[in-house]
Amino acid sequence: MKLENKVAIITGAGRNIGEDTARLFAKEGAKVAVVDLDKARAEKVAADIRAEAGVAAAFVADVADEAQCEKLAEDVAAKLGRVDILVNNVAISDNKKIMDLTLEEWNRVLAVTLTSPFLMGRAAARQMIKQNSGGVIVNLGSTSGYFGRNRALAYTAAKGGVANMTKSMAIQLAPFNIRCVLAVPNKIGSPVGKDEFDPTRPVVNLRQNRPGVPMDMAKVIAFLASDDADFINGTAVFVDGGVSSMMPGDWAV
Ligand SMILES: NC(=O)c1ccc[n+]([C@@H]2O[C@H](COP(=O)([O-])OP(=O)(O)OC[C@H]3O[C@@H](n4cnc5c(N)ncnc54)[C@H](O)[C@@H]3O)[C@@H](O)[C@H]2O)c1
Repeated sequence: MKLENKVAIITGAGRNIGEDTARLFAKEGAKVAVVDLDKARAEKVAADIRAEAGVAAAFVADVADEAQCEKLAEDVAAKLGRVDILVNNVAISDNKKIMDLTLEEWNRVLAVTLTSPFLMGRAAARQMIKQNSGGVIVNLGSTSGYFGRNRALAYTAAKGGVANMTKSMAIQLAPFNIRCVLAVPNKIGSPVGKDEFDPTRPVVNLRQNRPGVPMDMAKVIAFLASDDADFINGTAVFVDGGVSSMMPGDWAV
């Protein structure tokens, strides 16, 4: 097992990418803190993991709130013993064009998508430093952080920030033996903020000709969080079926 006895905090683990990551981490031997704003979702995922003989506990927190992030890291350490891994998975999208976007919407998307990985990263790193154990932080980026889009102004800005912040986090936390990496999805499962899988979502047509599924991400996140990825630091791993390798205007053969 890749993550035996590691304690992992996974934010937004109530559904989709975070949920499958929590389930896979538990199968790989981790004790999982299933964090979500939605209590019912977090409790269901944690209960399902325990029903399959895994170790998991549900935690309800708004990870855009500084005090709640600090308390969460302390509560996880108190309940599960320590903190070894943080997966900063939470994000929300505005899905709006600049002329329709309010300042309030911009601020909330930035708070949840960009400020949260800073706040949770700092809170988890504080705990890892206290333990003198090192650790791993996996941030979730997006191909939206690398390209302009015809909507989602705030989300594209926030994800561009997450990509570069991950590099600075890696540099600044290296003295404490904490690795920081970015996993970059494109069109995985249901769109961000949506419960239902959308069968009309475009498929990745470079090779697989299928939509990405949450387990595609979970497997890469588990690898990145494991010691197998010990020499990967500060960089981004694209899990997008290859779409961002294609020159704009070109098409798959
Ligand atoms: N799904 C995709 O196609 C896709 C594509 C590119 C990037 N991503 C990235 O992958 C990550 C996961 O995306 P997803 O589609 O699985 O998300 P999702 O919207 O399906 O799930 C996010 C979960 O986070 C929870 N959440 C929202 N705000 C919260 C807060 N403030 N505090 C605590 N919990 C909160 C929600 O309740 C939800 O359960 C995100 O960072 C997203 O930007 C996803």
